[in-house]
Amino acid sequence: MSSKRPVTVIGLGPMGQAMVRTFLDAGHPVTVWNRTASRADALVERGAVRAASAAEALSANELVVLSLTDYNAMYEVLEPAAHALSGRVVVNLSSDTPEKTRAGARWIAEHGGIQLSGGVTVPPSGIGQPESSTFYSGPRDSFEKHRATLETLTRAEFRGEDPGLAALYYQLGMVMFWTSMLSYWQAIALGEVNGLTAADVLPHAAETMASMPNFLSFYAERIDAGEHGGDVDRLAMGMASVEHVLHTNVEAGVDTALPAAVVDLFRRGMDAGYEADSFSSLVKLMRRPAA
Ligand SMILES: NC(=O)c1ccc[n+]([C@@H]2O[C@H](COP(=O)([O-])OP(=O)(O)OC[C@H]3O[C@@H](n4cnc5c(N)ncnc54)[C@H](OP(=O)(O)O)[C@@H]3O)[C@@H](O)[C@H]2O)c1
Repeated sequence: MSSKRPVTVIGLGPMGQAMVRTFLDAGHPVTVWNRTASRADALVERGAVRAASAAEALSANELVVLSLTDYNAMYEVLEPAAHALSGRVVVNLSSDTPEKTRAGARWIAEHGGIQLSGGVTVPPSGIGQPESSTFYSGPRDSFEKHRATLETLTRAEFRGEDPGLAALYYQLGMVMFWTSMLSYWQAIALGEVNGLTAADVLPHAAETMASMPNFLSFYAERIDAGEHGGDVDRLAMGMASVEHVLHTNVEAGVDTALPAAVVDLFRRGMDAGYEADSFSSLVKLMRRPAA
C-alpha cells in the first residue's frame, strides 16, 4: 500500500494524462475517468484504476482533479454525477473566465463539494518539473490540506479565497503571452521577407523580451500612483514610432492586423488628449470598453 494520498483525475487530454503519470510516478494511487474511455488505456497499464463512470470516479477519493477543456465540459461531466460531489474537494484545473470559475465553485458548493480553482501556467511537459507553477484559489484550509499532493504536479501558489482569482491570474498571464508571441510571429514574418530566418531574428527578439521587466516595474509604480506625465516618454513620440512600425510592415507586404491595432490604440490616445503624456496613459483607455 502506498502512503501517498489517493487522487482521482477526470479529464485525460494531454494535460490530464501528464498529471496522472506524474502522480503515479510519485506513488499516489490514481483513479481515472474520461469521456473517451480509450484515453485511459496506457494509464491503466501504468497502474491507474479506471472508474466505470464519473460518479464512481468522484466516489473513489476525496481529492478530485478536473482537467477538462472548460467549465461547460465540467457541467457535462459532473451534472449526471452531482449526487457524488458531497464531501469532495474538486481541484478544477480547467481554464475559463473568472466569472465562470466563481459560478462553478457555487454550483459545486450547492452539491456539498468544495472547489479549489487552478490555473496551470505550463504545458503538459512542465508537469512534474520543480520550476513549474500553478495558481490556486478557494478555501485556504482545503488548499493547505491537499497542498503536498498538488505540489507533486507543480509548485502551488495560493492566490486567495475568491475562487475567481486563480483564473484571473491565469488570464493576466495569457493576455500577455498571446500578444507577446504574436509580436514575435510578426517580427519573424517581417524578417523573412527581408531574407532573415527565425534563427537570425532570435537573438534580437530574446534581448528585446529580456529588457521588458525593467519597463514593467518602472511603469507599475507610476500607474499605481496615477502618474502619466510626459517626462520620460510622450505618446506623440510613440505615435510616430508605431506608425513607422506599421509602414515597415506595409512596405514588406506582410499582414498588418497587429501593428494596425497598435496604431489604432495610440491614435485613440491622441484623440483623447494624451499626446503630451506618457504612453502609459493608454491604460486609461483600456480601463473602459472601446467607444
Ligand atoms: N495543454 C496545455 O498546454 C495547457 C496549459 C495550461 C493549461 N491548460 C488547460 O488545461 C485543461 C486541459 O488541457 P488539455 O490540453 O488536456 O485539453 P484538451 O485536449 O481540450 O482535453 C480536454 C479533456 O476534456 C474532455 N472534454 C472536453 N469536452 C468535453 C465534454 N463536452 N464532455 C466531456 N469531456 C469533455 C476531453 O475528453 P475526450 O478525451 O473525451 O475528448 C479531454 O479529456 C484546459 O482547460 C487547458 O486550457 C492546458
